Amino acid sequence: MIVIIDFGSQTTHLIARRLKELGAEVKIIHPENSLKEISETKVGGIILSGGPSSVYSKNAQTVNPSIFSLGIPVLGVCFGLQLIAHLLGGKVVSGKKEYGPTKIKIKNTQVKVTKDLPKEFVVWMSHGDEVVKLPKGFKVFGSTENVPFAMVGNLEKYIFGLQFHPEVEHTEFGNKILKNFVDICRIIILKKDFSIPEIEKNIKNIVGEKDCVIGAVSGGVDSTVAAALTARAIGKRFIPIYVNNGLMREGTTGCVRKIFKRIGVRPIVINAVGEMLKRLKNITNSEQKRKIIGNFYIEIFEREMKKLLAKNISVKYLLQGTIYSDVIESQGTKHSAKIKSHHNVGGLPKKMKLKLLEPVRNFYKDEVRKIGKKLGLPEEFVSKQPFPGPGYAVRIRGEVTKERLRMERKADKIVLSELEKAGLLPQVFLSFPVLTNAFSTAVKGDGRHFGEVIALRVVDSKDIMTSSWTRLPYEVLQKISSRIVNEVPNVSRVVYDITTKPPATMEWE
Ligand code: XMP
Repeated sequence: MIVIIDFGSQTTHLIARRLKELGAEVKIIHPENSLKEISETKVGGIILSGGPSSVYSKNAQTVNPSIFSLGIPVLGVCFGLQLIAHLLGGKVVSGKKEYGPTKIKIKNTQVKVTKDLPKEFVVWMSHGDEVVKLPKGFKVFGSTENVPFAMVGNLEKYIFGLQFHPEVEHTEFGNKILKNFVDICRIIILKKDFSIPEIEKNIKNIVGEKDCVIGAVSGGVDSTVAAALTARAIGKRFIPIYVNNGLMREGTTGCVRKIFKRIGVRPIVINAVGEMLKRLKNITNSEQKRKIIGNFYIEIFEREMKKLLAKNISVKYLLQGTIYSDVIESQGTKHSAKIKSHHNVGGLPKKMKLKLLEPVRNFYKDEVRKIGKKLGLPEEFVSKQPFPGPGYAVRIRGEVTKERLRMERKADKIVLSELEKAGLLPQVFLSFPVLTNAFSTAVKGDGRHFGEVIALRVVDSKDIMTSSWTRLPYEVLQKISSRIVNEVPNVSRVVYDITTKPPATMEWE
């Protein structure tokens, strides 16, 4: 949780809103007693808001300077920065009043707080006072023409200050700055609380001594790492369930059996290939596909739960491999909530009356991979590509039929094998062909052929939130294209998707 100490700024609530959009839990508190409140709650970050007063004015509110020694990251905004400077030995004066846009020049883009910021951008000012001397240990990260100390910080103590307002819409990259601060808080929390033994302890505390946990596992990295942690924590009281719905990559069922043998828990494997295809018959809308697949899972899980109950096994929790990017993308803005209804945050359990267990919820993809490695999962497993829950169904535009699944699977195999042959697989975050449901003409032999267009999507990403298209060598693209049009029936051409995320999502549906 991040607390915002409110000094009366008009935009305190906007800061809260922006932080919530970034997936943080937020509480706005008053300056009086803030130290006590912070010490009594599990706080990951502190924001000192702006406010109308001067630090020197009689009625100016303040905080106990001990909040700077708690080891919790602090970000001061406008008045908040001035208060940090004032309390830690810097100097604040009544400066040139400044309201509205100005340009900031970033001096150091190598630190976490300025990550991904351009060298120059517009920020929004609204202040009368100004910091003219920084406290000891503080460095300047950005200056405007009038304000040399517009973005400052003490990197050892994780205390940062901004003279401008990152929360207002007109500050370019304001969200990025807040995200960088949230990431810094997260890293500090993870350092403190999220070693593997600590995660296991948490799982044990949540689940208790008697209850069992069932887990939806897909053979993917996130659910497998979550499962491995849970198995370590509660042993055989963890019951993984893998549903083979025929929409997964070839070999997934075998891979699940193998990896769970290594983890030491035997998964319940359910074959639902025929039934899945029946339910997807004539369905072309992507959201509808996702719902049908999700509901089918619920049905299967409920059936399995009944069987467990009949054996007197009390299941109270459902394990999910939710990771931090799922959390952000699912509960973000109105827009993202709409496009990301597919992510597994809050999906299954509502109907199933199970409580959620999400041990890797606070980690980004690359961090989950690192945990997996530490847990002793094989390198080729932890580094494998993510695969969407609804599988090939969201990579086949239009109806999912047995024939189209065969085409998609064959094309996918070609892409993977050519990337592997070229030694490019480790660098690629995600690669897949899309059956676009668009058709075009080709001449094969002497005849005209009207076949489907396959789009090739290959992207680089670290944390899923953003991605760029992979600059594959032309020869590799040529090889993939030739093989797909020659080996996959009814395909007329292959096109390469050169769109970044944002605006485009990685998957097509
Ligand atoms: P997008 O397309 O949202 O994908 O940029 C980001 C990551 O999420 C995966 N993805 C899904 N995962 N259920 C999932 O469990 C889904 O419905 C789903 N849709 C996309 C996608 O493969 C990528 O790794």
